[in-house]
Amino acid sequence: MRKNIVAGNWKMNNDLSQTRSLINDLKEQRITSNAEVMIAPTAVNLYQAVEATKPSKIEVIAQNMHFADSGAYTGEVSASMLKSVGVGTVILGHSERRAYFNETDELLAKKVDAALANNIRIIFCFGEELADRKSGNEENIVEGQIKNALFHLDASAFKNVVLAYEPVWAIGTGETASPEQAQDMHEFIRKTLSDKYGANVADSVSILYGGSVKPNNANEIFSKPDVDGGLIGGASLKAEDFFAIVNAF
Ligand code: PGA
Repeated sequence: MRKNIVAGNWKMNNDLSQTRSLINDLKEQRITSNAEVMIAPTAVNLYQAVEATKPSKIEVIAQNMHFADSGAYTGEVSASMLKSVGVGTVILGHSERRAYFNETDELLAKKVDAALANNIRIIFCFGEELADRKSGNEENIVEGQIKNALFHLDASAFKNVVLAYEPVWAIGTGETASPEQAQDMHEFIRKTLSDKYGANVADSVSILYGGSVKPNNANEIFSKPDVDGGLIGGASLKAEDFFAIVNAF
């Protein structure tokens, strides 16, 4: 059975005291769902966040990492560094990383390998832009992003892979893919996986939806059979909103 996951991507928000205070608020919320709950604070606060979440069900994850294990890469953070502060999951390929930091499929394939080699689980993000959807090209784009960064992996690697479909036009815009649009794409993604790795692998991989998920639309999106959770930006910055989404399962 694949897992339900709700992950909050805090992006470049929350300094140290805000991080501690939001985590305190999160720990006061009641979890009534079976979903795994994750938060991704900025790298500089990961260690303190890991400490602050203890004891709770909340897993602290990273927003990004470099592919090299160490060396002359000013400003970067490696997989082993993440592990050393107690982080075991990393978001890779977020559309903001692709758009503002020139992350290509080729670069992401290296990051994927580095994370998995260090036994770090990945939440691999991808999604089409508005022009792609308008021209009916969204499935080609998504298929290409998945194939280019992941299809060199062995089937066994997928136990540490979570996918996150995030149409760029829905991120931070208040515009959400309709539950049907999300389901159609998730079904297509699962079929793409199944064609390459077989139904067992495809059925075991959690596929999250991201893009303006809010307390008032989470329920309907999560009710779709191929939507196994959400990657939440804006609404993850308020404890009540985030947990309303977590508890939508
Ligand atoms: P949003 O962000 O929920 O603010 O649209 C989603 C994301 O970037 O993962």
